[in-house]
Amino acid sequence: MSERRALVAANWKMNGSRAANDAWLTEFAAGSDGITCEVVVCSPYVYVPQLRDRLAADHVGAQDVSANLAGAFTGDVSAEMLRDVGCGWVIVGHSERRQWHHETDEMVALKTERALQAGLRPLVCVGETLQQREAGQPLAVLSSQLAAILQRVGADGLLRGGLAYEPVWAIGTGRTATPQQTQEVHAALRAQVHQGAPGPANALRIVYGGSVKPGNAPELFAQPDIDGGLIGGASLVAADFVAICRATTV
Ligand code: PGA
Repeated sequence: MSERRALVAANWKMNGSRAANDAWLTEFAAGSDGITCEVVVCSPYVYVPQLRDRLAADHVGAQDVSANLAGAFTGDVSAEMLRDVGCGWVIVGHSERRQWHHETDEMVALKTERALQAGLRPLVCVGETLQQREAGQPLAVLSSQLAAILQRVGADGLLRGGLAYEPVWAIGTGRTATPQQTQEVHAALRAQVHQGAPGPANALRIVYGGSVKPGNAPELFAQPDIDGGLIGGASLVAADFVAICRATTV
């Protein structure tokens, strides 16, 4: 951790119900006193208004956004619509979108731009697969994913939101990248941004995602370039999410 304010985002993925979300929000509100990190809760689209009933826009996020502005795109939700219902953040380029919906680096970059144009703060995900890591090329893969984003929105655009490193092999698998492995990647990503934009690179929050739990969060967050987390499975239990948020300050 550094002088950058930590950012911890919950990614509920396709989970939740009105009743369960209500209970989660109540438990979170009761337990969140004194949390110093910036907190964002990213729900499925349909629950964004429910989140907004209980949280300020700066704490509410969606999990995806359309690369298109409006029109004949059945099933899509635009950045302007998200803004219109009071959403403040959006996750872009999650590996589950890249994998199951064939999102390319260019598409992820365009979605990031759409989010920024609408005044949303994008949390942009990059990550390598197990195959890519075992081939010894994780940094090359990550570097081209990041380059596509920087080319389209620049370091200043990315700085409006944040960058999330999510090794695909660690997501929902119980397998976490070690703090040292993660630190090495975060430092490399920051160095890449630094080449063109030293100021934004130093201020950019780079968070880690992939089987973060209350037990492993403190050691991860103690690394100098790990500025928080993007939390999937463990974010479904409010008490665990609170414990992970608190781990940014120990
Ligand atoms: P996980 O998911 O914490 O369940 O590994 C992280 C994510 O996909 O954002």
